[in-house]
Amino acid sequence: MKDASKPQHHPGTRDSFGSSFGVLVALAGSAVGLGNLWRFPYLVGQNGGAAFILIYLIFVFLLGLPILLSEFIIGRRSQASARAAFKALAPGGHWGIAGVLAVLCCTLIISFYSVVGGWGCEYLFKSLCFDFTRGDGSDLENLFSSFSTSVWPPLICHTVFLAATAGIVISGVKNGIEKFSKVMMPVLFIIMVGIAIRSLTLEGAGAGITYLFHPDWSKVTANTFLAALGQAFFSLSLGSGMVITYGSYVKKDANILSLGAQTAAADTIFALIAGCAIMPAVFAFGISPSEGPGLVFITLPHIFGQLPLGGVIAIFFFLALLLAALTSSISVMEVIIAFVMEEFQMKRRPATILVFLVIWVLGCLCSLSLGVLGDWKVFGKNIFDLFDYVSANVLMLIGGLVVVVFVGWKLGRKEMHDELTNSGKLRIPNWVIDIMLVLLRFVAPAAILAIAVFQWI
Ligand code: TRP
Repeated sequence: MKDASKPQHHPGTRDSFGSSFGVLVALAGSAVGLGNLWRFPYLVGQNGGAAFILIYLIFVFLLGLPILLSEFIIGRRSQASARAAFKALAPGGHWGIAGVLAVLCCTLIISFYSVVGGWGCEYLFKSLCFDFTRGDGSDLENLFSSFSTSVWPPLICHTVFLAATAGIVISGVKNGIEKFSKVMMPVLFIIMVGIAIRSLTLEGAGAGITYLFHPDWSKVTANTFLAALGQAFFSLSLGSGMVITYGSYVKKDANILSLGAQTAAADTIFALIAGCAIMPAVFAFGISPSEGPGLVFITLPHIFGQLPLGGVIAIFFFLALLLAALTSSISVMEVIIAFVMEEFQMKRRPATILVFLVIWVLGCLCSLSLGVLGDWKVFGKNIFDLFDYVSANVLMLIGGLVVVVFVGWKLGRKEMHDELTNSGKLRIPNWVIDIMLVLLRFVAPAAILAIAVFQWI
């Protein structure tokens, strides 16, 4: 284990983040994405509002944060990408397979994520043409379904989105990912706060606020818990090698406990702001909050069409959606690229091009599976839904389980303490480590197994 604290591959050439703020915005950038702006609001709507949010918050801090810190520990301690990290910390074991699954998980995620990101591009373009404020809004549902099931327009948008992602990642960790996130995360924050203020000050917004903050426990079922835990995993980008990979670019003197906590807090704040931006407006216009996945692409444009200055707000909203999606997609792509670079000894540029091509093809299949390839079904699901299901409901859970067992049981207390305190340089009360150990050893595996069993049966 002695050399686990030294770089394992290409000593001296490994990229790293430049500052703690850079690490924070990159991690928060990965966490804050379509999960916050698209998935969270519609899950809140489908699961009864405030009660779901409360359960979600408990999961984020009780389970999400310890898992996030565990991945951080694995990444920073090994200074290696997903598979090599496990191999460096536990030589000779089979833990590396978890790293391969994580890379596979990211490949599936980015394939459909890029398609949805592409829709974001198209909707930004439409809002720039003031498309939503022109008609009477009655054809918005049609507009969305005919666009997303057509052949060329979504493929072109997916290509643009993926190319933008690759364009950032190809410049490296410090010059690409960190630089982009440092500028875009504050912009994203300002836009979302602005939209939330507009939404909260609408006449009739009160019902939306009650819905968000006043729990109605009668709506809570077993499914609410599953959806909340699944969302906590997805939104914090857990179980998929992201935090391991980003953690491997973090310097040895950074305080990973506080970085992890700040990341979870930032992700939660963004989700709540997105909720405040969307729900009050939905209620003010008398629309049902449980519209499902179409909430952002159908319901919201409908609202923009009726809102004073809605055309301009639409531009800002879809710009925010796109920025949030991009800072996340670069992190998913980086997991795969770091893996390819280290496992096949490739340089960043060819690795990026190779990964781009593979994902581009898979993304095209995802997009087409909503239209012309709709008959291609595996387990009754089209390719898009299959990739979504297998990554979020299977691979991320397996990844999360392996991580907590690895850090909780295999690495254990001493190494955890060592990494969280930077070998004793930082003061962390013992009880923090003790609580984390109990959560990792018992609570998290039980919770993950419980959702897995519920979902797969
Ligand atoms: N967390 C992102 C979101 O909320 C999605 C995401 C980014 C992700 N990177 C990931 C999900 C890695 C799983 C794994 O949109």
